Amino acid sequence: MEQIGNRDRLIKSWLYEAAAILRDSFHEELEIDEKTSRTDLVTNMDREIEVFLYEKITNHFPGERILGEESIGHDLKDLSGVVWIIDPIDGTLNFIKQQAEFAIMIGVYEDGIGRLGYIYDVVRDELYFAIRDNGAFCNERRLPMVENKPLSEGLVAISNRLVMADAGEARRIARKSSGLRVNGSAGLETAWVASGKLIAYIAPSLAPWDVAAGLVIAEEVGLVYRQVTGEKVNLLGNNAIIVANEHAFREISETMRMGE
Ligand code: IPD
Ligand code: CA
Ligand code: CA
Ligand code: CA
Repeated sequence: MEQIGNRDRLIKSWLYEAAAILRDSFHEELEIDEKTSRTDLVTNMDREIEVFLYEKITNHFPGERILGEESIGHDLKDLSGVVWIIDPIDGTLNFIKQQAEFAIMIGVYEDGIGRLGYIYDVVRDELYFAIRDNGAFCNERRLPMVENKPLSEGLVAISNRLVMADAGEARRIARKSSGLRVNGSAGLETAWVASGKLIAYIAPSLAPWDVAAGLVIAEEVGLVYRQVTGEKVNLLGNNAIIVANEHAFREISETMRMGE
């Protein structure tokens, strides 16, 4: 992919602009709609940020394909060429209820390979990003490679869906780790594994836009980001995933297979 540095600068400037729009929206009333249930929501701001990013991308990179959670590219059948995968607000429920703990996410893939990944924690002003083969960063700080620590030495983030689907599984992981956390933003939880604040993140059903940015960042610091079965994640479908160092990944997948 050409112009990586240029793309990186542009994407960061778009993220900062989008973040300012979201911060301004804190003073206004949101329009909230249900998608599939009362916990699957979308706001006017999810839509506005998605359109904002869509317009920036198509203006600067006409012809490149885009997949966005709320309305763009849902008929995508393959990942050939350059594909932008965007989640305008990851953690919509947190955005609505807490005005915090959400992120704007962009992943740029070329023939299925993640080249660039961005997870912007708007409220903390922490931009996690990675350029393939050039390292991962939080703002200006380069993130070190993760250590191969055992599960017992760290906190594990899980998605609320895992608790609802299999509380026994969540309990077994709680016992083997330092404890569980449920934050509600797949992107932030992945970024925190990449920066060593958590040892793992587990989620039974992530869409391509939940995965795309985090996968690039995770792999750049040596994490394993795979399906629970050990297979590669599928960026055209739903995934039950674990993000962890190699050692902890093995422990978690064994624990999940074991049952009780
Ligand atoms: C959701 C969040 C949540 C995860 C869900 C995702 P959204 O993304 O990342 O943590 O458990 O599976 O759908 O809908 O807020 O962008
Ligand atoms: Ca959503
Ligand atoms: Ca999401
Ligand atoms: Ca979203």
